[in-house]
Amino acid sequence: MFSETEIHEGTTRIIVPEHPTKSIFYNPVMELCRDIDIASIAAFSSSHPNPAQLTYIDALAGTGVRGVRVANEVGLHVTINDRSTPAYELIKRNIALNAVEERATAYKENANVLLLQTNYDLVDIDPFGSPVPFLDAAAQSVKKLLLITATDTAPLCGAHTGGMRNYSARPLNTEYHAEMATRILLGAVTRELARYDKAIQPLLSYASAHFVRLIVRVEKGARKADECIERLGFIAHCFFCGHRFTFPCADMLNLNVPNTCALCGQKLRVAGPLYLHPIKAKEFCEQVHLELGNRELGKKHEALKIVHTCIHELDIPFYYEHHALCKSLKLPPTPLSSLIDALHSNGFSASRTQFSDTAVKTNARIDELKTLVKALSTEL
Ligand SMILES: C[S@@+](CC[C@H](N)C(=O)[O-])C[C@H]1O[C@@H](n2cnc3c(N)ncnc32)[C@H](O)[C@@H]1O
Ligand SMILES: [Zn+2]
Repeated sequence: MFSETEIHEGTTRIIVPEHPTKSIFYNPVMELCRDIDIASIAAFSSSHPNPAQLTYIDALAGTGVRGVRVANEVGLHVTINDRSTPAYELIKRNIALNAVEERATAYKENANVLLLQTNYDLVDIDPFGSPVPFLDAAAQSVKKLLLITATDTAPLCGAHTGGMRNYSARPLNTEYHAEMATRILLGAVTRELARYDKAIQPLLSYASAHFVRLIVRVEKGARKADECIERLGFIAHCFFCGHRFTFPCADMLNLNVPNTCALCGQKLRVAGPLYLHPIKAKEFCEQVHLELGNRELGKKHEALKIVHTCIHELDIPFYYEHHALCKSLKLPPTPLSSLIDALHSNGFSASRTQFSDTAVKTNARIDELKTLVKALSTEL
């Protein structure tokens, strides 16, 4: 037995362990992620002719907080599953507490077994660490929307080994590690779904200190899956001057890629395969922003900030860390907003990025960026 307490998330009441236990997992820090999920699932379902017919599975549910919230706050039919007996018992009580028995069913199964038995419109995978053990079954089960968390950000971004073992991809430990992790994971998800003739369209992807969260639309069709695979590629990075460029898988296979930096002549390192196309759909994010604004949510302010930045973020892969850039030039940091303004007035595209408050996305090359940073610092 454990001592318990009742908390609120959104408009849902949830019984959670008062202190962390081994058998039931509840992380209050993830309320932000769950608030964004509720708005995203509501935005996604609103385009469906009959949202109440959509089926959703919270395959690794813990207390059941995600699934109960989806039943209570969005009104979908939900399956809420955890293989741990104490978690399963608590899920049943949380369903009853919110009076959503008509729409919510608890299961005590291995998530993979359940996913292989049934196709769900929406599949949510929120594991400890890596989602890899559940990707194959999730790819077979999902019909319309896949939501995935990864908390194993170290192997995904190249800070630890394991990228190749888990994701069949090589990450590089660069300044843009959060986006590296996101695009490596999206690449792995693309390949996994393609095996079942399914294609993805990323609707909203973001990262915080300890996790990456992906929300992707899924479509059936061998041709669509082939087109989706074409969106994978590599990034070549020069650790000497910071220059980088991306290229599609086909160029790698044809050995059509220079191995020295065009700017400084040093050796290039290559990361991938990773997903190089847009990692969000702007219109969808705008709908999520509206949903967030209209709902009662504990982390509304932080959630709005993340989604707002995603809406305005350039769809170009990989950002430059402004502080690292200034440091490499031995200059004091200038305000990021002045750098973005200067890029715009020099004819470049530029934006902030959700991945880092101190970084810029731009189509300017590193040498062009450095010239602008130097010019700005002399104006100080
Ligand atoms: C990170 S927790 C889930 C947290 C929850 N989604 C939330 O938002 O609070 C992962 C859960 O997966 C469960 N789990 C791990 N492996 C499983 C498996 N193969 N099948 C079903 N449940 C599993 C664990 O018991 C644990 O409760
Ligand atoms: Zn270089």
